[in-house]
Amino acid sequence: MTGPMRVGVLISGRGSNLQALIDASKSRDYPATIGCVVSNVAGVEGLRRAERAGIATHVVPHTAYGSREAFDDAVGQILSSSDTALVCLAGFMRVLSDPFVQKWHGRLVNIHPSLLPAFKGLNVHRRVIESGARISGCSVHFVVPELDSGPIIAQAAVPVWPDDTPDALASRTLAAEHRLYPLALRLLAEGRVILDREQVRFRDVEQAGGELFSPPL
Ligand code: GRF
Repeated sequence: MTGPMRVGVLISGRGSNLQALIDASKSRDYPATIGCVVSNVAGVEGLRRAERAGIATHVVPHTAYGSREAFDDAVGQILSSSDTALVCLAGFMRVLSDPFVQKWHGRLVNIHPSLLPAFKGLNVHRRVIESGARISGCSVHFVVPELDSGPIIAQAAVPVWPDDTPDALASRTLAAEHRLYPLALRLLAEGRVILDREQVRFRDVEQAGGELFSPPL
């Protein structure tokens, strides 16, 4: 019998999505376990969350490396030595180099606080409000070299209210992220979602469909 899939989580800060994955992985029937957490920033809350959960933590300061590739190599070595099968980016604020992305192709996912392909990049919530959109949300997607552009695995919608502020929309979206990421990781760890020639293929996801792709508003 094989055990739960070993996941490495890359963070840069608060780590609330990391916490959602940690909490989910505590359930006995959850098919993934967090094997290690790597942060490019020392002293962040996400590292403390991991330590409290008894998860191995590593700080790899990007400023200590002469190139993006050298930093990515250092991160990759930690992931490999922890027998990582899948990498989750959770508020990781570094762009990963092409060789790293290629090496982890189909095994590297990210969560982004918009309904991709709309609103890639930073300052998402301010731009959503300024656009006049009435619905926003979050997306879990496979990572490809182009930022926030990989094949989409799962999304959740949240309303944008008439008097919304970026902070209010961010916290409403974050609550949806905390539901979506564990659900998406479950599908990945159970092999019910795979990346096949740049296409996301699903198997046996009908039952999850209602909740996963559109949690109640
Ligand atoms: C989240 O909104 C995530 O979608 C984005 O960065 C934020 C990270 O928050 N990529 P946290 O560190 O998980 O609390």
